[in-house]
Amino acid sequence: MSQSSPVSRRQAWGSRAGLVLAMAGNAVGLGNFLRFPAQAAQNGGGAFLIPYLVSFVLMGLPLLWVEWAIGRHGGQYGHHSAPGMFDRLGSARWLKYVGVFGLFTNLTIASYYCYIESWTLSYVWHSVAGTFLTEDPQVYFPRYLGVEADSLFAFPVEAFGWFVVTLALNAWILSRGLARGIEIAAKIGMPLLLVFAAILAVRGLSLEAGVDPGVMQSPFEGLNFVWNPDLRGLTDPTTWLAAAGQIFFTLSVGMGSIHCYAAYLRRDQDIALNAASAGWMNEFVEVVLGGTLLLPIATAYLGLQAVQAATAGGSGFALGFLTLPTLFNNWGWFAPVAGAMWFGLLFFAGITSSLAMAQPLVAFLEDEFGTTRPRAVVLFALATLALGSVCVWLYPGGAFDEFDYWTGTFALVCFALGESIIFAWVFGMDRGWAEITRGADLAVPRIFRVIIQYVTPAFILLIFVGALIKPAGAWTDALVSLAGGSGWPLAGDSVIGRLFHTGVTDYRWFTETGAGTPYLIQDLTRVLLLAVFVGCGWLVRQAWRMKASGVRR
Ligand code: ALA
Repeated sequence: MSQSSPVSRRQAWGSRAGLVLAMAGNAVGLGNFLRFPAQAAQNGGGAFLIPYLVSFVLMGLPLLWVEWAIGRHGGQYGHHSAPGMFDRLGSARWLKYVGVFGLFTNLTIASYYCYIESWTLSYVWHSVAGTFLTEDPQVYFPRYLGVEADSLFAFPVEAFGWFVVTLALNAWILSRGLARGIEIAAKIGMPLLLVFAAILAVRGLSLEAGVDPGVMQSPFEGLNFVWNPDLRGLTDPTTWLAAAGQIFFTLSVGMGSIHCYAAYLRRDQDIALNAASAGWMNEFVEVVLGGTLLLPIATAYLGLQAVQAATAGGSGFALGFLTLPTLFNNWGWFAPVAGAMWFGLLFFAGITSSLAMAQPLVAFLEDEFGTTRPRAVVLFALATLALGSVCVWLYPGGAFDEFDYWTGTFALVCFALGESIIFAWVFGMDRGWAEITRGADLAVPRIFRVIIQYVTPAFILLIFVGALIKPAGAWTDALVSLAGGSGWPLAGDSVIGRLFHTGVTDYRWFTETGAGTPYLIQDLTRVLLLAVFVGCGWLVRQAWRMKASGVRR
């Protein structure tokens, strides 16, 4: 086990409100306003909602408590990133390597996430400057990203410039430290985000067919679609997979960022109420505000079918960056204000999350290598710039999507599965429960002890296996096919299916003319991600070797 380092002990949260806002800011992100509505639209609206809420209670909330507990526990030993924290959960030497996920996911997600964040910053600027809403977003967006037909590469000078500006802004806030940087950003960003979202929601819900130009039906049709619970989703494993995936992404569980923020708490500081408050605040913003903006407004103008078509793939980019700005154009003088508010709220949502992705990496360098904070911040920014550039330049070839899937979806489940088992079964539930309830300002219902020990790991395991072997078509048909000896019809978008490009008939790296194909880019991106993972593991090994040899204590 490692010795503690005093380096980042000096960092601490300034106030309880600041801590909860920073944690809520960590969770509330682009996922709340773009990914949630798109996932809901793709998975039957109200049919999505019930598995989503069940996943929150059985998996999201317990994981929040587990991650806060692991974080606060690790912080007592001077560790503010996952490797050191996991090292302290037991005596086995391999435990710290599970924590590698907590470095890898944050670094790789930040790389593409900051790129999306930079789009929102640029769109705010162009909305205010009046240089964007005058142009058809359908043309503007692909041009902005540098996407050209038949090219795997993009060299978007402006988009890259905004990406650098966004990273610089993140780095500047990070360099100011926890209380004077991250906490202030959350205290400014979160309230503004809520105000912008509330104004747009009121404006959107007051749209009337026959009164407002272009409106074909009530926005409440869209709201009903999301909020009207439909029990059919309960029996569809694919809906469960989507719902659980959204819970992971939106709460930022399975990333290592919550652990990090919680590590700056004092030993007896409450985590039960703080974790639940941040989690419920995220759910409020996601379901109530996130559910009230994109879908109802777009449905009022375009109808549900068109909206569902626009969310194919489940990302919400088309609706958020193409459709909505087009619709705002109907709002007269308010159009640029609405554009600035929409992209402004996305920007605040994004930056409070990307700061949380950066802090664990900065803390890792500070704690385990003794790097000074300014240097650690610069190293983080350069690493993110390098990896992010791959997403920028190879966006059309699919590198961005590969990052999103393997790091923003798959890796989260792997880490969460590992940590839920280690917490309950290696650290032990007696110590675990004591850790969660020490200093608690909320009496956590005892049933959650059982849930954390058995239900949450089993639930994540089911999700993990379900994602690995998701079938093409209905699960019942797949079981019939298996029982009838015709094999398991693996879906192209299952983990195994993606890995082996299942269902792709013309899989090859080069065309006859020697030009690269998207599969080449996809496979190379995977190799790169694997190399980053191994690189993070190597850094952990080096850090512990240095400690063992007494170079660092
Ligand atoms: N939790 C963050 C989001 O929802 C990552 O965007």
